[in-house]
Amino acid sequence: MNPMNLSESNFNRTHPRPLPMIIDADTGIDDALAILYAVKSPLISLEAIGTCFGNIGVEQATDNTLRLLKLAGAEGRVPVYAGADKALAREFPGAKSDVHGENGIGGAVLPPSSQQAEAEHAADYYVRIANERPGELTLVLTGRMTNLALALQKDPGIASKLRSVVVMGGAALVPGNITPAAEANFWGDPEAAQVLFAAGLPLTVVGLDVTLQTLLTRDDLDRLERQGGEEGLPVARFLHDCFGIYFDFYGRVNDFKDSCPLHDPLAVIAAVRPELVTSRTLLASIACGDPLTAGMVVTDRRVKPSVGHPVSFALEVDAPAVVEELLSVFKASDPVQ
Ligand code: BDR
Ligand code: CA
Repeated sequence: MNPMNLSESNFNRTHPRPLPMIIDADTGIDDALAILYAVKSPLISLEAIGTCFGNIGVEQATDNTLRLLKLAGAEGRVPVYAGADKALAREFPGAKSDVHGENGIGGAVLPPSSQQAEAEHAADYYVRIANERPGELTLVLTGRMTNLALALQKDPGIASKLRSVVVMGGAALVPGNITPAAEANFWGDPEAAQVLFAAGLPLTVVGLDVTLQTLLTRDDLDRLERQGGEEGLPVARFLHDCFGIYFDFYGRVNDFKDSCPLHDPLAVIAAVRPELVTSRTLLASIACGDPLTAGMVVTDRRVKPSVGHPVSFALEVDAPAVVEELLSVFKASDPVQ
């Protein structure tokens, strides 16, 4: 099956109805910004959030998500479904505290929420909701692909019932980040990523090819704070607290200066503003064996490709427009300039 061409989507700025979206996250620093954007964007109707192990354990990811929703003024309005605590075929190696801090949100402290996670497992929820609302839902995955892979294993028929699936993961034509060959989300559960590739989903992969070109700067965060006015201060302060460690990490590891990639926010934005990325469909598979290559995206770019599954990869991005789109949702009606 041909992956849906997102640029043909009706759900864009001119569409009268916000895009019904579910986010599946390992709620770390950039996941948090992606979730805040989705809660605030008029283009999105955030239906639910599933959580997964990854940057941190699934319990911490769930707690961070509930606290974030409260911060965003959406406590009790977006159900949260906790999901997998480990990969399909691998143990969880533990949190990457050097990237996202001990609590996954850079040590930022958020007040607890009175909202509880739902009793249903995220994978069971995806099976149920895809069958209840065929053709309606866009699922954006910003962590390991485990929850959706589990759902597809339970009911492969949901592959044709999701409107689109956009994942932050992989490095199609560029080096990896956690290993020379692999990006962290695909590396953390390569078997799950391969389940998605083989499932016949309307899948778009937003990987390091484009996220490393789409940078958020400290100046952007200052602008977000100014534009948000008084009512936006708690969110702006949280983002400053949260992103300090992330800027430091990318300064040390990628030589970025006071900036960091917008990995997870770009996946959410690409789902609603598909014209901001240029995608190409390639036959692709995920390497699952040798530790040197586990999680690597193998694309068949020979003259007559024959190995792999058709997957749409975002390969170019209008980065300044993405940053504008991101910041636009944090504007107050009466901003202090
Ligand atoms: C991905 O890994 C995590 O650290 C980020 O949240 C993002 O989803 C980038 O490789
Ligand atoms: Ca993530």
